[in-house]
Amino acid sequence: MSDASDALVVLDKVNKHFGELHVLNDIDLTVARGEVIVVIGPSGSGKSTLCRAINRLETIDDGTITIDGQPLPQEGKALAHLRADVGMVFQAFNLFAHKTILENVTLGPIKVKKEPRKQAEQEAMALLERVGVANQAHKYPAQLSGGQQQRVAIARSLAMKPKVMLFDEPTSALDPEMINEVLDVMVALAREGMTMIVVTHEMGFARKAANRVVFMADGLIQEEAEPEEFFTNPQSERAKDFLSKILTH
Ligand SMILES: Nc1ncnc2c1ncn2[C@@H]1O[C@H](COP(=O)(O)OP(=O)(O)OP(=O)(O)O)[C@@H](O)[C@H]1O
Ligand SMILES: [Mg+2]
Repeated sequence: MSDASDALVVLDKVNKHFGELHVLNDIDLTVARGEVIVVIGPSGSGKSTLCRAINRLETIDDGTITIDGQPLPQEGKALAHLRADVGMVFQAFNLFAHKTILENVTLGPIKVKKEPRKQAEQEAMALLERVGVANQAHKYPAQLSGGQQQRVAIARSLAMKPKVMLFDEPTSALDPEMINEVLDVMVALAREGMTMIVVTHEMGFARKAANRVVFMADGLIQEEAEPEEFFTNPQSERAKDFLSKILTH
């Protein structure tokens, strides 16, 4: 699955420090087109920093990150284009409070991609339909549940037609009964062939949708395996210890 020609996201010896803290330590990771990676690991292990580095919200000290063969640009127009290729969904939904759901989704296509409003609105409605909130299009974010808002955030990212989607704990701020409606959208997206890097401890999602689980601890990729293999037969002590903790609650 990950022969070089098919590689969409490639991290090669990526290092990042915050002062003394070596938060990403020689990270090598290749994500193939259409592949779904779940990243798990203890708090502080560098998962969010990894996502932020791939989206260039965070600089790296050395190593390289390429998206579809293009090294991450430093700044300017090229960076704006790269950002459009990489969709990101965070724990907090980050919708614009004073814009309607429809306006939230059309903003990027109109402002960044210069799409005509009509076309942007048609595409946005189709995306809202796909994530199951088309009937909320003219409301404001505060009028929606957390699960609905997060599905809007996914639609908003998809509106930019990204090549890869990053998700950083997209369900961890949600009430339990809303988690599945968001995970279902993500599973559908995975089945449609979207390349995804997902930080989550939702093992059900990993089992259903992931090709590979990457386990991080202390800024290192400690091990990677297919979900079933990782959850039933973790190799490192760190992974065993971590799984025993998340499995008990
Ligand atoms: N801007 C920053 N400045 C200094 N230290 C930071 C910064 N961002 C993150 N860190 C530190 O880097 C380490 C990794 O943080 P990161 O957010 O990537 O971890 P994580 O694996 O996502 O954790 P969690 O599961 O809690 O979200 C942590 O020790 C964190 O305190
Ligand atoms: Mg994090």
